[in-house]
Amino acid sequence: MKKDEFKLSKPLNHIAFIMDGNGRWAKKRLLPRTAGHKEGCKRIIENIRTCKKLGIKVVSLYAFSTENWNRPQKEIDLLFEYLKDFFNDYIDEFIETGVQIRVSGDIFRLPVDTQEVIKKGLELTKNLDSFIFNICLNYGSRQEIIRGIKNYVKLVKENKVNEDDLTIDTFKDYLYTSGLPEVDLLIRTSGEERLSNFMLYQLAYSEFVFTDTYWPDFKEKELYECLKEYESRDRRYGKIVEKEE
Ligand code: IPE
Ligand code: IPE
Ligand code: MG
Repeated sequence: MKKDEFKLSKPLNHIAFIMDGNGRWAKKRLLPRTAGHKEGCKRIIENIRTCKKLGIKVVSLYAFSTENWNRPQKEIDLLFEYLKDFFNDYIDEFIETGVQIRVSGDIFRLPVDTQEVIKKGLELTKNLDSFIFNICLNYGSRQEIIRGIKNYVKLVKENKVNEDDLTIDTFKDYLYTSGLPEVDLLIRTSGEERLSNFMLYQLAYSEFVFTDTYWPDFKEKELYECLKEYESRDRRYGKIVEKEE
């Protein structure tokens, strides 16, 4: 199949990626792990472009977890350096093509220069709405849920909301992903088949596709393979869906 021939035939508004395998990609090439992060940043922009081309509205990308602080400081520093470069390199493209940047997670623990660049990106793109790139940084889903509950309880105490109004849907407003459409598809690269504290609430009815490909090798062709797999799935939501004979 030629690259441009792929078209989505199933609704897909929001795709989430757990980018994984950067370190192993580098190790296989006898390179330092951080070389994998550098190469991985190239795949971030390429995959955003492809998703946008296909009419997908939102990409969420798990780039740094609350647990990733347990890595060597040098690796952490370089990863944030590359992410800073990523935003510096592509901010103009985001503005020109209507991409709004969002962040899930608490960025205040990030190196100050990376924070500054991200905050600038958030400010410059906040009114754009062709596409949303939601980058998850210092993100942990359990922490996000607790934070949401605390914020909610505070509002109840201040008589700003009524506790009876809390529902599955209204609680979504207390998560970082507030206002974003449901995650239709989660893709995790590198052969790992776990969530690693990612979007536990949001993924309740998402389709999961796991691929052995390391993130730095996850290009357009590999994305199409995952999308084909997604299209083959029946999304039943608990119902019985009779297939036409
Ligand atoms: C994903 O690749 C990037 C981050 C988690 C920051 P890894 O760095 O986890 O790569 P592996 O899993 O060790 O190969
Ligand atoms: C999950 O990947 C976090 C991100 C992709 C940012 P990890 O590589 O940190 O996950 P584990 O440790 O293998 O579960
Ligand atoms: Mg990993």
